[in-house]
Amino acid sequence: MRLPDSFIQQVLDRNDIEQVVSSYVALKRRGRNLVGLCPFHGEKTPSFTLYPENGSFYCFGCGAGGDVITFVRRIEHLDYLDAVKWLADKAGLPMPENVSDDKTSRLRVRVLEANREAARLYHRILYAPEGRAGLDYYHRRGYTDATIRHFGLGYAPPSGNPVLRALREKGFHDEELEAAFLCRRKEGSVYDLFRNRVMIPIIDIRGNVIAFGGRVLDDSKPKYLNSADTPAFRKSENLFALNFAKNNAGRSFILCEGYMDVIALHQAGFPQAVAALGTSFTEEHARLLARYTGDAGEVTLIFDADGAGKKGTQRAIDLLRAVGVRVRVVTIPDGKDPDEFIRRHSPERFRLLLEGAVGDMGYRLAELRLHNDLNTPEGKVRYMRQATDLIAGLDSPVEREVYAGQVAAQMSVQKSTLLEQIRQTIERRERGSRKTQMARIVRRQQQETVRANPEAAAHPRAAAAEESLIGLLLQNPDSIAYVARQLDPSQMITPLGRDIYARLVDRQQKGLMVDLAYLSADYDEAQMAYITSMLQAARDRVNSLEEADRYIAVLRQEQAASLLARPEELTPEQIREQLALLRKER
Ligand code: GTP
Ligand code: MN
Repeated sequence: MRLPDSFIQQVLDRNDIEQVVSSYVALKRRGRNLVGLCPFHGEKTPSFTLYPENGSFYCFGCGAGGDVITFVRRIEHLDYLDAVKWLADKAGLPMPENVSDDKTSRLRVRVLEANREAARLYHRILYAPEGRAGLDYYHRRGYTDATIRHFGLGYAPPSGNPVLRALREKGFHDEELEAAFLCRRKEGSVYDLFRNRVMIPIIDIRGNVIAFGGRVLDDSKPKYLNSADTPAFRKSENLFALNFAKNNAGRSFILCEGYMDVIALHQAGFPQAVAALGTSFTEEHARLLARYTGDAGEVTLIFDADGAGKKGTQRAIDLLRAVGVRVRVVTIPDGKDPDEFIRRHSPERFRLLLEGAVGDMGYRLAELRLHNDLNTPEGKVRYMRQATDLIAGLDSPVEREVYAGQVAAQMSVQKSTLLEQIRQTIERRERGSRKTQMARIVRRQQQETVRANPEAAAHPRAAAAEESLIGLLLQNPDSIAYVARQLDPSQMITPLGRDIYARLVDRQQKGLMVDLAYLSADYDEAQMAYITSMLQAARDRVNSLEEADRYIAVLRQEQAASLLARPEELTPEQIREQLALLRKER
């Protein structure tokens, strides 16, 4: 089902790309355009550019690009129709009839419905006689009934297939239950996946039950079973309890390792706690939190004190800093996790710990000191070198000044000496990074091209002409009619180029608008990024008809060469014609 142009036009009219993007990216004006930190990859200097004049964005760092619909598709992980619907909803436009019958979005809706039913069922079972073991478990952990209700906790009994039975009865197909990661099929028979586990529903910020975590009641393995990624859930992008934390947090969050910790923290009066789900903290998680912390907020890390926890802490610091979030770190004194600490001591003691959280730099410097023997000259020098490297990585000169002062005082050296060392380190790194950055941009663009249009590599010269020509036509749709008279779509060199060109010509001939946004129904995200890169490159050129002629000549010549490679398929006349073309235009 295709959406009518008139509807897309309305959606575009009411969703200014600048407005839509700026709720995810802090944009700064630069000339006619706006720039910001790319939301699709981690970066410290902005290479994400927004072109309001043609409603497109392009990132020079990672090659992401497209129109406003493509942007929503990527950032919200929606398919094309859902992205249009998302924008339409925002603008209060009802979608045209019978367009929501898209297959994957329908499956996503069914998975969410199945999850909600399953969550209700698990919760009901918890309070039924067969749920006794589960309820006892929660109570043993100190969870109150109010907490159990608040989080919608439940229990999956050891036998029978309650989810399968109940949800089949409600009209769910087995395939839907498998897609939801609630049931599994093995050797023809279908059965419940979660058994003999306390069940924790994972709820997203819109209130959908997107997944489950299940914990065993004893010491058996695996301790946790979590939903795999499903059409409704990506674990690298969701944080447990963010649905609650985002309202109560006053823009500050506690990030811990386990979701059982989070539940205990909420119950103890710390509703700003969240945790990743059966995976380590990711770049996406960091960006998600950054959306809610804003400039005022911060994230306090409370990971377990073991080796894995320390590694996780360092990683989370890097990822959060990279997206501009302030970070503090709490180390729990007796090596326990927050849940055990609160149970052993009290919420009040935990609050003291929280208030005593050190800044991430303080934490890192302390870790470095732990790993060097400061009583020996060698140890001192090593510590100072590592500390210098760390401080040189800070973006803010004020921060560098402060920590250099701190380290200098500790080690009884001149602050100026340390600052000079830091300055040299920064200079050295910048020299290196400008080079690698340029190399990375070039590599990325090549990769993007290969991904979006694998055929381009076989004919680099003609493919370059094709890309330039498409860019020119997008930048300057008035020249489509002229080019269409000279060049048939079959003369484009790659199948994708042919397809795009044919669409442009078709739209022009039908008198329809030619605009990036109208292409996004037909191409995937990688292809849209590729198309946008062509448009982007065309911005710096003249885009005259003479320029178009040059590209057309290259394409014709390439076609002649490839035709002449198989002369047996040509008539003598055609051979003469193609030879003439080749000679004339070389
Ligand atoms: P409790 O023993 O219930 O207190 O667990 P915990 O909260 O102390 O959890 P632990 O430190 O063992 O693990 C922290 C997090 O790592 C959990 O919330 C899970 O997300 C993840 N995790 C731990 N064990 C497993 C496992 O066996 N499988 C999977 N998929 N994830 C696990
Ligand atoms: Mn624990």
